[in-house]
Amino acid sequence: MSRKHPPAHAWPLVLAVLAGCPSDPDPPPALDPNERLLDPATCEECHPTHYREWLGSMHAYAAEDPVFRAMNARGQRETNGELGDFCVRCHAPMAVELGLTTDGLNLDEVPQHLRGVTCFFCHTTESVGGAHNNPLQLSGQRTMLGAIHDPVDNDAHASAYSPLLDSATMESADMCGSCHDVVTPNGVHLERTFVEWQGSFFSDVDPLSGGPAIYGQRCGTCHMGRAIEGPIADAPGVRADRLYHPHAMQAVDVALHDWPDAELGPELRAEQLELIEFQRKSALCASICVNPRDDGGSDLDIYLHNEFSAHSWPSGSAQDRRAWLELRAFAGDTPALELGMLDDVQPLSTIADDPLLWQFRDWMRDAAGQEVHMFWDAEQLESNLLPASEILSPLGDASTWRARRYEVPGTAVDRVTTRLRLRPMGLDTLDDLVASGDLDPAFRDQITTFDVTPTVLEWTPDTATEFEGYGQCVSSSSSCGAPLIGAAPPS
Ligand code: HEC
Ligand code: HEC
Ligand code: HEC
Ligand code: HEC
Ligand code: HEC
Repeated sequence: MSRKHPPAHAWPLVLAVLAGCPSDPDPPPALDPNERLLDPATCEECHPTHYREWLGSMHAYAAEDPVFRAMNARGQRETNGELGDFCVRCHAPMAVELGLTTDGLNLDEVPQHLRGVTCFFCHTTESVGGAHNNPLQLSGQRTMLGAIHDPVDNDAHASAYSPLLDSATMESADMCGSCHDVVTPNGVHLERTFVEWQGSFFSDVDPLSGGPAIYGQRCGTCHMGRAIEGPIADAPGVRADRLYHPHAMQAVDVALHDWPDAELGPELRAEQLELIEFQRKSALCASICVNPRDDGGSDLDIYLHNEFSAHSWPSGSAQDRRAWLELRAFAGDTPALELGMLDDVQPLSTIADDPLLWQFRDWMRDAAGQEVHMFWDAEQLESNLLPASEILSPLGDASTWRARRYEVPGTAVDRVTTRLRLRPMGLDTLDDLVASGDLDPAFRDQITTFDVTPTVLEWTPDTATEFEGYGQCVSSSSSCGAPLIGAAPPS
């Protein structure tokens, strides 16, 4: 980040000088890249669990990601360097802060401990100067900011409370959100996790306190929850009645190589996949309802709802994600309808011409409306995501359900299966990076195709329940049946 003004911590000094007051302290010395506190491994000595979880997180991986490196390299080339620090500002913010990179092309020469979104970066964030493209300003100090008001002293660092690092506050969402919201140099609002959250009921404010509504949730309450009671440091004199917040911050992505090394990589990856699967169980709701047709066939109504991601689903890199419905219907052993069938090495683009295909993602387009794969080529965006609920109501927010009808004329089906499939990164985008010579093709085969657990459903007449006006239905859980919340059946 470039600073146009004296950093905030310098103001008292400036004012003191102006006022002729001699007793104020010197400004903190500039940060030195070799400083121990900049290195997450230093934190490991006393916060080993935080360190291990962070190491397996996308934050630690953000500047190692071969796809990130490839895209940034291509972007620098194709824009003649105009991209500048746009990408690394978020993916390796300490390296930019220290002036060690201006374009991310020399990341291999940047010390390992300054790549990625590091402990020191988050924990010295002092103010938020905007709503997107990482407008975070660092204190320049060595004081670790956190949610604890009465930290125990330790030999390594000073500690202090900051509302930006306390998930109980609204401000904490500004800290995460302003780095999780991307407006491209062309002015396309490409990643919108923060604004999506702001539009959901999860960001409601309590009118009395001005703080979060009692049912509200910030980025940290979901992505660092559930807090665990116990000591938060292996150090003398620590208290046992602290709250420990998990730092794995899993969501969709997994590392594409053995990061950080061949020994630890597979272990961290397995842990991450388990966390992802667990989190995803509550992310969405799905129902299948079947109705007989006049011609003896069946109408299959599929309902989907974003239940507990407090932003769209998918969110963030939705231009790179590929999410689609696989639907199969049978009469006896004979398939009556098959949709979205794809093996794990095939790009979704190979079946995207099917007008029945139901996809959830963003499409980047150039000025002429042609689909493009790279940020800097995007002039406009088309979007079809599962939105987060805007209002909290005991009946749910019916307007945020999405439903589609699939017709099977002339054949009565007796078994229907669904699963939403999700790829963190489209193979068409990766193929594009391979073709331009920027990405090693080996990484393409590492992409996982997930089944989104709640949408893995099987309907048979025996397992379905009649819902008046909707038909014979099965749902991912009894509390989330579309028929219960008043969503309009599709036609
Ligand atoms: C404002 C901060 C910000 C900027 C600027 C930014 N990114 Fe990211 N990037 C993120 C965040 C946050 C995620 C994770 C989003 C998610 O998981 O949905 C991400 C994810 C990614 C991913 C991995 C996720 C995926 O599978 O798509 C790649 C690759 C990536 N960014 C490349 C880039 C490149 C190249 C640029 C510059 C052209 C860039 N980013 C600019 C914040 C940023
Ligand atoms: C020598 C041991 C030691 C090292 C090394 C260490 N810490 Fe701490 N840290 C502590 C102790 C002790 C506490 C206070 C625990 C308490 O009050 O229960 C603490 C508290 C914190 C807090 C909470 C501050 C607050 O007021 O909310 C944060 C954040 C933190 N450390 C981050 C880090 C980071 C990041 C690093 C690496 C740059 C690091 N620590 C290195 C021992 C250490
Ligand atoms: C300096 C910018 C920055 C800040 C601040 C930041 N993030 Fe991130 N975050 C990223 C980037 C970049 C990635 C993706 C790295 C990649 O995949 O290459 C990411 C990834 C993630 C992911 C994983 C996404 C996925 O698809 O797997 C989650 C969840 C997340 N961040 C949550 C948070 C939360 C919660 C906070 C606040 C406590 C936060 N982030 C603060 C930049 C940031
Ligand atoms: C109510 C809980 C909740 C809150 C609040 C929340 N999230 Fe999420 N978020 C989720 C869940 C659940 C998923 C995983 C969806 C999945 O598994 O497919 C997710 C996914 C993500 C992803 C990956 C999205 C993708 O598709 O690539 C990112 C990045 C993210 N969250 C960041 C944030 C940020 C930043 C905030 C605050 C502005 C936030 N989240 C607030 C629950 C929440
Ligand atoms: C993306 C930003 C981010 C990164 C990176 C990050 N932290 Fe944190 N950390 C937080 C937030 C936010 C909290 C406070 C959560 C709360 O109290 O609601 C926190 C809390 C803590 C605490 C206080 C105890 C607790 O669990 O609440 C310690 C100690 C800590 N972090 C250490 C670390 C260490 C060590 C690293 C690196 C290995 C690290 N953090 C990386 C955002 C981050």
